[in-house]
Amino acid sequence: MGIYTRILRPLAFRCDAERLHNLAISAAERASASTALCASLTGHYVRDYERLQCTVAGLRFRNPLGMAAGYDKNGRGVPLWTALGFGHIEIGSISAEPSAGNPRPRLWRVPEERGLIVNYGLPNHGAECVARRLAEARISVPLGINIVNTNHGPQSPPASDDAIVDDYIRSIRRLDAEAGYFMLNLSCPNTADGRAFASDAARLRLLLVAVRSAAPVKPVFLKVAPFGDLRTLDKFLEQVDGVPIVRGFGVNLPPGKPLPLAVPAARLSAMPGAVSGRPCQEIMDRAGAELYRRMDRKRYVLIGTGGVSDAAAAYRKIRLGASLVQMLTALVYEGPGIVRSITAGLEELLERDGFANVADAVGVDVALAGGRF
Ligand SMILES: Cc1cc2nc3c(=O)[nH]c(=O)nc-3n(C[C@H](O)[C@H](O)[C@H](O)COP(=O)(O)O)c2cc1C
Repeated sequence: MGIYTRILRPLAFRCDAERLHNLAISAAERASASTALCASLTGHYVRDYERLQCTVAGLRFRNPLGMAAGYDKNGRGVPLWTALGFGHIEIGSISAEPSAGNPRPRLWRVPEERGLIVNYGLPNHGAECVARRLAEARISVPLGINIVNTNHGPQSPPASDDAIVDDYIRSIRRLDAEAGYFMLNLSCPNTADGRAFASDAARLRLLLVAVRSAAPVKPVFLKVAPFGDLRTLDKFLEQVDGVPIVRGFGVNLPPGKPLPLAVPAARLSAMPGAVSGRPCQEIMDRAGAELYRRMDRKRYVLIGTGGVSDAAAAYRKIRLGASLVQMLTALVYEGPGIVRSITAGLEELLERDGFANVADAVGVDVALAGGRF
């Protein structure tokens, strides 16, 4: 056990989960302001492995492991995350207008399951503020910008489809210069407008056509929650195929609590929201593999998330079709050294299995199983 898990984590976990998150982001912002500190951390944490270098959607990545959206919602610590060894950083979700998100409390730790329960509801500073911040930042790895429509709060009436689409487009236009890629979050589990987007064919088509007209310079991905059934997934892919603007997909948390958790029911009912970390790994792996199996692989690539906390879990996602892999929850439980540990472990696993490059391992388990896994 390292210093983080032995000493820092027990102390940090005495603090409320959201307060700790905010403290970590403020500390990251201060650290990011120091070029000398970031250079020194880079020397300690970053190892470059030729085997892990890859090109995805025309962007060059030093390794396939990225920070998932939701940790640094407003792009305040990008140089620090880069110095920890991430190959890309996805910030957001960001909306056209600033949002306070859902009422508190809205983030809980479930240590017995190595998970978090999140009901943030997309609080963020808004596209304008984030664009100004990013214009000043030192960014040396691909920066994903995760975009969503503004959550005006649980009491506000549902937005019209046109208003939702307009919200996405305004953010895309404002942030295109700063982005490496866009990830359009179509599936926030914790807002009324965020659900069911991907299964609403008319709304999805409206969005895709509008995005195509906005003609962003940067590649566009869609983040979708696991589909309830294959028919819905096929219909979703049909819609996306019909309006060629999308380069690939990310997988989001399923809404609610799809699996039983080892937590007393009374405690669980006081924690509404989606579950991240280890409990969601299997369901998100399966969803990613299903997407990979059915999507047109010449057109699309997959970015996997969900329960990555060691090299084996990252490698499994790659073998199930993910070209890039992201994590969030493991950073909270394992600390900053986890990034170096996963990249080193991935290098070893790829070498063990005779892959000259990580790209060669993408999807091998889906193909080997003849379409089943
Ligand atoms: C605290 C928290 C906040 C999140 N916020 C967002 C978000 O704003 N946008 C988004 O697309 N995904 C968000 N996610 C989902 C993550 O990006 C990721 O897909 C998910 O947590 C699975 O990865 P993990 O098990 O490594 O945490 C959030 C997850 C957590 C735990």
